[in-house]
Amino acid sequence: MSNQNLDGNPKNKDRMGVFVCDCGDNISSILDVESLTETAKVLPNVVCAEHASYWCSTDGRERILDMIRSEELQKVVVAGCSRRTHNRLFQKTIGQANLNAEMLGIVNIREGCAYPHQAEPDMATARAKDQIEMESAYMSALNISTSIEVAITQKSLVIGGGMAGMTAALELADNGVPVMLVEHTESLASMTITDTPEQVKDVVIAVQNHPDITVHVNSYVSEVGGTSGNHQVTISHLTKQALSLHDTFGVIIVATGMPDEETARLAKLLRLKQDTKGHFAEMRIRLRPERYMERGIYVCGSVHQPCTIKQAQFQAYSAASRALKHLRKKSVMVGGARAVVDPMKCNGCSDCFEVCPFDAVTMIERPAQFSKDSVHIEIQTPDAKKQSLSVIDPILCTGCGNCVSVCPVGAATMRGWSDEQLEDQMHIALRDTSDNKDSLRILIFACEWSGYAAMELAGRQKLSYPSNVRAIRLDCTGRLQPGLILKAFEMGADGVMILGCMPKLCHYERGNEQAAAIYNQVESLVGLLGISPVRLKLAWTPPDDAPAWVELVTKFVEGVAEITGVAK
Ligand code: FES
Repeated sequence: MSNQNLDGNPKNKDRMGVFVCDCGDNISSILDVESLTETAKVLPNVVCAEHASYWCSTDGRERILDMIRSEELQKVVVAGCSRRTHNRLFQKTIGQANLNAEMLGIVNIREGCAYPHQAEPDMATARAKDQIEMESAYMSALNISTSIEVAITQKSLVIGGGMAGMTAALELADNGVPVMLVEHTESLASMTITDTPEQVKDVVIAVQNHPDITVHVNSYVSEVGGTSGNHQVTISHLTKQALSLHDTFGVIIVATGMPDEETARLAKLLRLKQDTKGHFAEMRIRLRPERYMERGIYVCGSVHQPCTIKQAQFQAYSAASRALKHLRKKSVMVGGARAVVDPMKCNGCSDCFEVCPFDAVTMIERPAQFSKDSVHIEIQTPDAKKQSLSVIDPILCTGCGNCVSVCPVGAATMRGWSDEQLEDQMHIALRDTSDNKDSLRILIFACEWSGYAAMELAGRQKLSYPSNVRAIRLDCTGRLQPGLILKAFEMGADGVMILGCMPKLCHYERGNEQAAAIYNQVESLVGLLGISPVRLKLAWTPPDDAPAWVELVTKFVEGVAEITGVAK
């Protein structure tokens, strides 16, 4: 075990430590861990590299903490078991030294190298060296400040002055949150007070007299912009245009009553999905098993589903309590990979707006400071598309990368999973070294939920497949763009595989469909460039069918070997 400071700059924000695991002898009996460690020591930004029996043990984790503190590490790479099983544990460890969870990189050299290539220890070690270097390069290029904090405006908007809307408004206001209540008709409860039952009458009076509730009747929501936590809304009077007002709200509760034309208009403005009967559908969108996104927009009453007054009230309490919970966070930290648009490059084409599965993209009017004539074009299409600048909501963005893959001018980029990070990895995977110059170079872009998971399972089951593959893990195959795939061939790839989730099972809704569209574009281009289509493959792989994955990859490598005449 030893340390080495190569950059001579102890304050380097990218100072990285690499920790290679023997895993008892599961790894060290096959891979040359000494040589992996020595190689890691001289990688850019690496200031220390060590190997040990079990980094996941209490002693191992203590040692990592000591090294973070003594070497002032800002980033940590652990080469050992799967990140699927060890990510949380090591994230917790580096968190004890106040390092953000994103500052951890994990390379699976056990299931990824030692187990599947145990019959070829040298090739297995060569792959492990590359995969460690690839992860280190990815981590090196990771911007340390990928997390941002977004404050949530402590004001609420309730749309609809029926029983559900009024109940929600009272609940919010009683909890100290200012409420603006907007009703389309001329009075609350949609009738005069003298006509309403006693219970409704009491609620109307309570709303009208509450100091924290402002009521606007004969009014409607005419525009919605901004981002989650800061919805910028324009309220217009039905007849008096001059009475329009603009305000920002942290949460919006929609309680407009039975679905009608007005509800459909509102659905479009708020980007809420409607079911076949016009009711607003459940808004929590599944990203990953444990992760839902919070837009701060809630629905209650009969616009959500047919209900009695009592049920509407119950739903209103529930919506208000969820809204209060959201507001009490005061701010949200948005971390991990997500897309951003460079306003100076954006040409307003709205392709990103079209492909975003999470409605994270808004087209806005181009502010004067971004009106660069050279990039500005007029969009002839109606509605939001006529606006000429794309803005991505950092809270709604899940980092699927669909927008990045379709942006024709490179204005949309992925922060935390950038093209540069991918290219750095590709360069290492495909470079001409003594280890691989006589054998095929096969690059696999693998979705971590399917292609990558199946690869790890194949390793766990100790199934063998060609050791000359190098895998780049993606959050979703929708992240790829044609230029990156073509660049892989330019860098010397003999074959490129893209392995994503089965149809309808993409974790980002349509990422795999996006990947298929990109693949089709590239397929025709590689033909024009004289590259055999045999050297490029897109496939959907279930995460739990390791034998099928092995057969797919092995056949692909055999096909490439045959067509290129290079030894497997
Ligand atoms: Fe796997 Fe989209 S999450 S292809």
